[in-house]
Amino acid sequence: MLADLNEENLAKALPEVTLAGAPAVWGSVCNVALEAQVEATVGGTLERFGRLDVIVNNAGRMQFKSIETLTGEDWLGILTVDLLGAFYFIKQAFLHMKPGGTVVNVASIHAIETEPLVAPSAAVKAAVLSLTRSSALEGKPKGLRINAVLPGAIDTPMLWNNPNVKSGVEKIDREDVGQPEDAAATIAYLASDDAAFVQGAEVRVDGGRLNRL
Ligand SMILES: NC(=O)c1ccc[n+]([C@@H]2O[C@H](COP(=O)([O-])OP(=O)(O)OC[C@H]3O[C@@H](n4cnc5c(N)ncnc54)[C@H](O)[C@@H]3O)[C@@H](O)[C@H]2O)c1
Repeated sequence: MLADLNEENLAKALPEVTLAGAPAVWGSVCNVALEAQVEATVGGTLERFGRLDVIVNNAGRMQFKSIETLTGEDWLGILTVDLLGAFYFIKQAFLHMKPGGTVVNVASIHAIETEPLVAPSAAVKAAVLSLTRSSALEGKPKGLRINAVLPGAIDTPMLWNNPNVKSGVEKIDREDVGQPEDAAATIAYLASDDAAFVQGAEVRVDGGRLNRL
């Protein structure tokens, strides 16, 4: 099951999932910031597929504004998607998943180190790590695992639309840019039984960029 607010993105991704070998796939147009739409998405999944095994909380927004121009509304626009969206899906996992189920939250290296003009995204991704810890603690007795990945620079529209990257304020060596498949492979590992004893972990997928002085 794929959920995205943007119907065009969804329409592009659905055939890729089929091509990758999924026996069935369903796309739900869903604004993860709205709990009722998350409930409807999970309800539709259970109706079609009968159970919920893995949730990947990947929807995210980034906005570039200085502290003095940011508004409360700007903050809420990011917080409701990146943090509450993940929370609504984790709540559904706790309500509907059987033991063995698992959630992977997509945070960011901005949760640890950041740059100017992205205060809400950095703060909210740090909060996603905190939510990962809290839900891992509460999920363990239910047999549910909750972990997080922290991508570095990944070759997607979000990276190349970043005005700090465009202007050269944020310098990225080509060797520090990963592919979506790099993040996906780590997510797949965390979601698999190979990671059965991995709980509340924060796994960086940044090619080692954060270690450099
Ligand atoms: N690309 C990077 O360099 C990078 C680095 C660190 C973290 N991340 C994180 O990885 C995740 C994926 O990012 P990406 O690079 O693919 O970004 P992207 O902008 O290319 O894709 C984000 C997707 O989220 C969807 N979305 C946005 N708001 C939504 C909402 N309210 N409800 C449902 N869907 C919504 C968009 O339609 C889009 O398909 C995000 O959480 C992002 O913060 C990306």
